[in-house]
Amino acid sequence: MNPVNIKPYKLPSDATWLVTGCSSGIGREIATLVASKPSQRIIATARNPADLSYLPDDNANILKLTLDVTSVDSVNAAFATAAKHFGKAFHLDVVVNNAGYSLSGDTEGATEKEMHQEMETLFFGTVRITTRSIEIMRQAKDRRGGLIFQISSLAGLCAFPGHAFYHASKFAVEGFSESVAREMHPDWNINFCIVEPSGVKTSFEGHSKANIKPHPAYVGADMPARKLEGYVRQGLKLGMGMEPSTVAETLYKIASREERVPLRLPLGAVSWKMAKSKFETLLEEFDAVKNISAMGEEL
Ligand SMILES: NC(=O)c1ccc[n+]([C@@H]2O[C@H](COP(=O)([O-])OP(=O)(O)OC[C@H]3O[C@@H](n4cnc5c(N)ncnc54)[C@H](OP(=O)(O)O)[C@@H]3O)[C@@H](O)[C@H]2O)c1
Repeated sequence: MNPVNIKPYKLPSDATWLVTGCSSGIGREIATLVASKPSQRIIATARNPADLSYLPDDNANILKLTLDVTSVDSVNAAFATAAKHFGKAFHLDVVVNNAGYSLSGDTEGATEKEMHQEMETLFFGTVRITTRSIEIMRQAKDRRGGLIFQISSLAGLCAFPGHAFYHASKFAVEGFSESVAREMHPDWNINFCIVEPSGVKTSFEGHSKANIKPHPAYVGADMPARKLEGYVRQGLKLGMGMEPSTVAETLYKIASREERVPLRLPLGAVSWKMAKSKFETLLEEFDAVKNISAMGEEL
């Protein structure tokens, strides 16, 4: 396997960050944190630019842009405006693919439009921003390199009932990102960090949840997805989950600590423990099928 993220990453003192989905939650906290650092620049983006009013208007290091990751025209326009705003000094150092929402409910009940929209946002949205960012990062003559954070989820490592398309999109982001990270020439110094948080206290379970029309075969309270919904409701009531500001601080730490960037970063105790347990179980399952898998070969 080609190694990834080989050299320690050094955040330039005048780094430019691009963050998607800054209207609320994790994106908003990252934008707020980066904007508070005097010499860092931020391209904060949102579908509705009015949602970025929490950032000052009179700071040349802060550029607020409209960006819908599902629209090629919108992505092209945002990159063109950023290049024009910063002029000759335009470069991209850190990119955070954060925009997203969850499509929840019974898989059999999902419409073509619902399932495509989820993939369009979480997967193809990430693809669009990533490929354009790599192009800029590898071409920068005097500061080649960069760091791309992909905000995946514990849901990109483990799959739970009732969120098939959300999981599929996040798993796709993980596979895409690992492959692209391995595709980079070592001299380009382009680093990837796939971030896998468990519950974060944002509006994700409200504003950013699209619900599939319930399917009659799955309404029973004993159905796995209904049970999971019960646990999630209970967790929300108890105020469980991480603060989005803590997620933002952790990403800033990864970017600025001048160490090798981890390719995968489960965030939060729940994520770390569940992900570890998943892979331990997977290894046991591999051992259980070892003889069949070998198909007569030596293993
Ligand atoms: N909260 C959690 O428990 C959790 C856990 C693991 C991973 N995550 C991931 O974290 C990321 C951020 O979520 P959050 O928790 O911070 O929730 P959030 O506060 O609801 O933020 C979601 C953001 O994505 C934006 N967005 C949605 N569709 C978009 C599109 N087509 N183009 C541009 N922006 C779009 C939303 O903008 P609008 O305001 O315009 O809708 C909003 O700014 C998501 O990728 C999510 O999957 C969240």
